[in-house]
Amino acid sequence: MVRTISQIETDKGQDELRRADYFPTLVYSALLHDAEDMNREILAAIRAEQARDQKGIERSNFRSLGGWHSHNNLHKDPAFKRLTQRVEAMASGISADLGYDRNRQLEVTTMWSISNPPGSSNRAHIHPGALWSGVYYVQAPEGAGQIEFIDPRIVNLMNSATFQPKKKRNTECWTKVKVKPVAGKMLFFPSWLYHSVEPNLAKQSGPDGERIIIS
Ligand SMILES: [Fe+2]
Repeated sequence: MVRTISQIETDKGQDELRRADYFPTLVYSALLHDAEDMNREILAAIRAEQARDQKGIERSNFRSLGGWHSHNNLHKDPAFKRLTQRVEAMASGISADLGYDRNRQLEVTTMWSISNPPGSSNRAHIHPGALWSGVYYVQAPEGAGQIEFIDPRIVNLMNSATFQPKKKRNTECWTKVKVKPVAGKMLFFPSWLYHSVEPNLAKQSGPDGERIIIS
């Protein structure tokens, strides 16, 4: 979409300055209306999985810092069916928004859970083999680590303009984006977008202090 930004004054009239935004990085979000009920159900399913598989696997989590990562096929477990359906419904919304072929459907191909107790975090990574990735927050105590998206336009980081001090930059001029975790919130982003998770600084100890997500 090309839009007019301003009229530039010249000696004998005005020139119209227009702008088009190409190559955007899209992050979709949604807050589930039945989050409380959903999270009770999903948390119980995660706890059952943790009891069954205490060691978990190591991916972006640091097992040495206590981060637990489940296996990658939770979407095949009936206990996670309700959430999987909601993710796929949301993915349909994204498909429609972007004009994807209506005869094809985005589907969940891998799904896992990560628990970050206070002090633990997740390394920067991408998700090869997928089109879209997402996170659903099951439990997010105050201070739980924010997800950070890293500007994929590496060339853009070679030089930077000087911005007006004390003025919040326009979102299109950000070079990193942090999103605060909120229980019941879903985020969707392109699988090629590098992301990491800050350390969980929650004050609570024990199970209530864990940052728990489904990816
Ligand atoms: Fe990820």
